[in-house]
Amino acid sequence: MVPLLDRFRLDDRVALIAGGGGAIGSAIGAAFASAGAKVVVCDRSEERAQASADRVCAAGGTCKGVFADVTQEADAERIVRETLDAYGRLDIIVNAVGGGAGKVLYDAEAYPRDAWDWIMELNVRSTLVATQAAARQMIKSGNGGRVLNISSVRALLGINAGYSAYVAAKGAVASLTRQWATEWAKHGITVNAISPTFVDTPQVAMLLDDPAFKAGIVSRIPIGRVGTTDDLVGAALFLCSDASSFITGQILGIDGGLTATQ
Ligand SMILES: NC(=O)c1ccc[n+]([C@@H]2O[C@H](COP(=O)([O-])OP(=O)(O)OC[C@H]3O[C@@H](n4cnc5c(N)ncnc54)[C@H](O)[C@@H]3O)[C@@H](O)[C@H]2O)c1
Repeated sequence: MVPLLDRFRLDDRVALIAGGGGAIGSAIGAAFASAGAKVVVCDRSEERAQASADRVCAAGGTCKGVFADVTQEADAERIVRETLDAYGRLDIIVNAVGGGAGKVLYDAEAYPRDAWDWIMELNVRSTLVATQAAARQMIKSGNGGRVLNISSVRALLGINAGYSAYVAAKGAVASLTRQWATEWAKHGITVNAISPTFVDTPQVAMLLDDPAFKAGIVSRIPIGRVGTTDDLVGAALFLCSDASSFITGQILGIDGGLTATQ
């Protein structure tokens, strides 16, 4: 029997973090490295991927930064190959590419097609293409694996702020989480998602910098604040470790109690 706390460790595991140069992806990558994983962070910004990997290495972890646009099949295949070349296996994929909602706020009745397509590409296609490439490798290896997606409370709750495409995209990510969990359980792969409310990151700074908007958000969160990237890493580690072996297809709200009030 593995001691309880050891089940949360990721020694000998290799994790690929798509969007690992971003605020949430880099925090998860650093957390996984501190739990013993070897980590590959990939990002469409090579500079952010490298900076994220450098921070992990400076803290004593093992990490490699790689450029990739994970909406492209060839890039997704390549980063899986580069992960195998670097560390010999692939056990975990975290899909931390996404967002964009605050940049394309339009009334629902006039939501433009180009903004819709962009949000779907950024949030759904990125998750789909990266996960397909990783899952093919996990199935081939026969070692099982962990997939962690990032949905959002917006998959469950409307918001009176022009979010049509984003709510649809995050709903799709939640549905794919349940579908993949169902299909890949036979391969020993669990698939779960975290579902945060607003997390204080550069991505949503524009919205949270508006005191009235922020006050409206915070007033509905029982814990009385928005999230931080640090609020997400414990759940991400749990869902990607042996401690969660019997949990799959779940969407874990990390929202200070927001959805509990609805
Ligand atoms: N910040 C929040 O409040 C919040 C709340 C709920 C859910 N989320 C979700 O969490 C995820 C991460 O959010 P974040 O705040 O860290 O965003 P972020 O913009 O800081 O990070 C996303 C990263 O993905 C990279 N990226 C974009 N397109 C890519 C592509 N095609 N291929 C590879 N990399 C690509 C970007 O360069 C960026 O570094 C998103 O899915 C977002 O929707 C965020």
